[in-house]
Amino acid sequence: METRDMLLVTGGASGIGEGAVRRLSARMRVVIADRDLPRAEKLSAELNASGAETYPVEMDVTSGAAIRQTVARISQDIGPIHHLFSNAGINIRTPVEAITPADWAAMMNTHVKGGMMVAQAVLPRMVADRKGGIVFTSSDFAVVGMTNGVSYAAAKTALYSLTKSLALEFAPYGIRVNAIGPGPIDTPLLRDRPAAEWEAAQARFMQIVPMKRMGTPAEMGALVDFLLSDRSSYITGQLLHPNGGQVMW
Ligand code: NAI
Repeated sequence: METRDMLLVTGGASGIGEGAVRRLSARMRVVIADRDLPRAEKLSAELNASGAETYPVEMDVTSGAAIRQTVARISQDIGPIHHLFSNAGINIRTPVEAITPADWAAMMNTHVKGGMMVAQAVLPRMVADRKGGIVFTSSDFAVVGMTNGVSYAAAKTALYSLTKSLALEFAPYGIRVNAIGPGPIDTPLLRDRPAAEWEAAQARFMQIVPMKRMGTPAEMGALVDFLLSDRSSYITGQLLHPNGGQVMW
């Protein structure tokens, strides 16, 4: 039997990452990399019970050493990684005057440095095989800015820049690099706040999203599936916005 390609999903244990893991595990082997190992293990066990081939691993994308060791171990024990969904992320909602250097560093280290280092770890094998694809999770806020979220929006804009530069540098090897910039997606990242604040946030989404609903992790998984498939074979360096029409760029 032919061995299926392998995909690495960071932040794969929850939300958008989980949506991509569920979708893509139908056609690829999937490494579910997350700093929350128990959650990754639970998801993996559920999917493998239905015939999928997924591997839960503990990975903190803010640690370059952890990334390199984990990628090397996966490559040796399971096989080469040819597809990456670099998606791990955090959110810190703070007015400018309250941003601390530690908050700023956490945001940049998780999204920008983390995304770059994971890509750096998997790209050599993709280049050697002239085969592979990368998708980053950016955000609508990469292009429109964000009140009380300057560090988040700045990190997501940097990720978009990273996407374009990697797309240019690796296009000659047949490796495509794109980003998704979602609008509000119903995940723990958005829900993890006091009930009254969550109610207000949902009411706001109904006003600002033309389609009058939040997106789902499954919808994000479908887009990542498309971007990591031959159906998008002439698309690279792009930021696609699954956002119900909230931002048209
Ligand atoms: P989530 O909180 O459901 O999932 C994020 C996952 O990333 C969690 O499993 C968490 O453990 C993991 N993670 C966080 N820091 C990590 C680290 N240092 N190393 C490894 N894993 C880490 O959130 P959601 O919404 O699924 O977010 C995924 C990505 O989507 C993030 O990059 C977020 O910024 C982005 N995004 C989310 C939107 C939304 O409305 N939910 C909209 C636009 C972008």
